[in-house]
Amino acid sequence: MIILGIESSCDETAAAVMENNDRLLADVVNSQIEVHGKYGGVVPELASRKHMENIHPVVTEALNQAGITLKQVEGIAVTRGPGLIGSLLIGVSYAKALAMVGNIPYTGIDHMAGHLLSVLLSEQKPSFPYIALVASGGHSSIYAVYDSRRFKLIGQTRDDAAGEAFDKVAKILDLGYPGGPAISKLAENGNPEKIFFPRSWLEPDSFDFSFSGIKTAVANYVNTRIMPAGRSTGTESITHRDAPAPIVHDICASFQEAVIDVLAEKTIKAALQYKINNVVLCGGVAANRRLRKLTGERGSEAGLEVFMPPVQYCTDNAAMIALAGSFLLPEKGLYSYDMDVYSRVALNERI
Ligand code: KG4
Ligand code: ZN
Repeated sequence: MIILGIESSCDETAAAVMENNDRLLADVVNSQIEVHGKYGGVVPELASRKHMENIHPVVTEALNQAGITLKQVEGIAVTRGPGLIGSLLIGVSYAKALAMVGNIPYTGIDHMAGHLLSVLLSEQKPSFPYIALVASGGHSSIYAVYDSRRFKLIGQTRDDAAGEAFDKVAKILDLGYPGGPAISKLAENGNPEKIFFPRSWLEPDSFDFSFSGIKTAVANYVNTRIMPAGRSTGTESITHRDAPAPIVHDICASFQEAVIDVLAEKTIKAALQYKINNVVLCGGVAANRRLRKLTGERGSEAGLEVFMPPVQYCTDNAAMIALAGSFLLPEKGLYSYDMDVYSRVALNERI
């Protein structure tokens, strides 16, 4: 079965073509980083406009890359939430139009389900069940994944997502958007033990996260220890683009360590408590090398096997949506044309 996947939940317009669950024929991602970069975060209205411009060329490019025409598409899978409503509506309306024109079955996919299944695009795939950490700009959650359609939510962030914390700290340090790649790069030459930023462990039996405190801790550190008294904004003197001061590397390394310590520890603890031996990292923050290394080390110490998708499938993409669709479509067939989008509903249990 040939499935066309479409993703437009945030600031990536993406399309992919997948054959029979396992052959990716095309994978196109158009990122809007340049549009939103100067604002330090995604501007929803600009994102919708860019999706409008990009959706048709991106889908056309995916079909061309796969060497097929719309007539050969046997199912369409499109992200219906959670995400930015305006952005989601572009992808979903476009998918509905294609489905209608080509009389093709289509289905809505939960973006989190896409991330949770993205590891199955790797060469080394875990078998079900597995415990998965999804850490991205919008979410930090731990799930038990029992099969391609059953996901149990075990813990989630109570305030900021991990990626959001990276992005906000990058803003404080004037490092640009998105913050994760910039911070992790500078952290490579910093001392993670230089500054102790607090870890928010919450209640001992909780798998929830909280990352808003650490962002404030970094802001306080910068304002009180680095900036001259009385000056509360502006970090130009320490974050010079070509050569950030050594302390910036240390702040990045120490901040990163505090976030990753909690993410890795709670994920491993969940696997042990649920007696599930396979652990998966996914979502944009799973591109972080330090998170991959630390979870890998702690996992093998605990006798667990840790799997992570290649970096291009950690950040938003449509291959994961096509894959999720290839599990759903043969069974579910056609959604009605009034299928709606949603901004927030947390994926739990069956999709
Ligand atoms: O999954 P994703 O592409 O989009 C959402 O669904 O949010 O994740 C984007 C997030 C951003 O917050 C970005 O800063 C973060 O993932 N990210 C990273 C790294 N690469 C991307 N965070 C930490 N380290 C990285 N290397
Ligand atoms: Zn995502």
